[in-house]
Amino acid sequence: MKTVELVILLIFFPVTLSVKHSLKFFFTTSSGVKNFPDFVVVGVINEAPTGYCDSISKIPGVKQDWAKKLIEDDPQHLEWYTQQCLSTQYDHKADIDILKQQLNQTEGVHIFQKMSGCEWDDETGEINGFGQFGYDGEDFIAFDLKTLTWIAPKPQAVITKLRWDGDRVHNEWWKNFLTQHCPELVKRYLDYGKSSLLRTELPSVSLLQKTPSSPVSCHATGFYPHRAMMFWRKDGEELHEDVEHGEILPNHDGSFQMSVDLNLSSVTPEDWKKYECVFHLSGVKDDIITKLDKAVIRTNCVSPSEFPAGPVIGGVVGLLLLLAVCITGVFIWRRRDNGFRPANSSDPSSFEISEVKDAALN
Ligand SMILES: *[C@@H]1O[C@H](CO)[C@@H](O)[C@H](O)[C@H]1NC(C)=O
Ligand SMILES: *[C@@H]1O[C@H](CO)[C@@H](O)[C@H](O)[C@H]1NC(C)=O
Repeated sequence: MKTVELVILLIFFPVTLSVKHSLKFFFTTSSGVKNFPDFVVVGVINEAPTGYCDSISKIPGVKQDWAKKLIEDDPQHLEWYTQQCLSTQYDHKADIDILKQQLNQTEGVHIFQKMSGCEWDDETGEINGFGQFGYDGEDFIAFDLKTLTWIAPKPQAVITKLRWDGDRVHNEWWKNFLTQHCPELVKRYLDYGKSSLLRTELPSVSLLQKTPSSPVSCHATGFYPHRAMMFWRKDGEELHEDVEHGEILPNHDGSFQMSVDLNLSSVTPEDWKKYECVFHLSGVKDDIITKLDKAVIRTNCVSPSEFPAGPVIGGVVGLLLLLAVCITGVFIWRRRDNGFRPANSSDPSSFEISEVKDAALN
């Protein structure tokens, strides 16, 4: 094993292999956005969207089979979420109104977001809790579990900080939720859904290319858990140049997908065989290695030279047929990927609106 890989493996997969399990809630409250619920919350377990609720449907919904069974077996749990969905909605709508007033914003689109949740280390038992808010796409205020006070990174949030700091009852609620209730939920869900949440599932890996001059995308879909990495290597050495790493995105079925693109524009055809794409899933010894080979690349379009057009189907008909092949290709690709979405940042602290929206609507 090369030193670089070893270092990376050690960084990503510490020797104890202790695993952190998490439960996070992403709340989005909006004002002035048409055709979109003004309150949406998504519950995410081990990075997979599992439950959601919004101001239109009001009744929480769940996505994965184990979670459906849990609320069937324990209707009170669903009832608790239903109430939480309602009460948080009122709180956050009041918050956004107060903020708009404070910031002198009478009109326009405004987005207020909250991310709260916890992480539990199944080896050490260590618990991390986090509660943070964003306003109009920027960090606004965050809870400090050590001091039970609020941290305001921006002057606009100071009024809110002072007001919330003084609300002892509310801050005790936060402490209890983050350090007691949330970890209890994590453990309960892990226990209940262990056959699903603790599984390992290898992905199918394909090489995709939009046009003959586009980068080749190595795409893995269907893996679980989300602790995975993928890279291109040449002659056994990991490549860093001409490589673009996509982030890990959730699929609808609770599995994940990711891709790594390689720009081959300066590589000669003879050199192609030196390249391979490596997928590694945490806790699984054998990597999935896919050699770069023109024959296995899937593409949306059949190139004209490979198409039996020529004298039989000429001119416009040939073009139309080619177009049909391309369009069908796109549909097949979308369907097979089952959750393909353009990438955007998944860093929860950056409060990506579109991702929460996607997760809620899909
Ligand atoms: C609020 O906006 C109004 C109208 O734009 C302006 O006249 C007023 O000075 C603003 N007040 C503050 C506190 O910024
Ligand atoms: C690929 O690399 C070439 C130069 O080596 C560059 O001109 C081209 O824009 C790159 N393509 C993409 C999609 O990044």
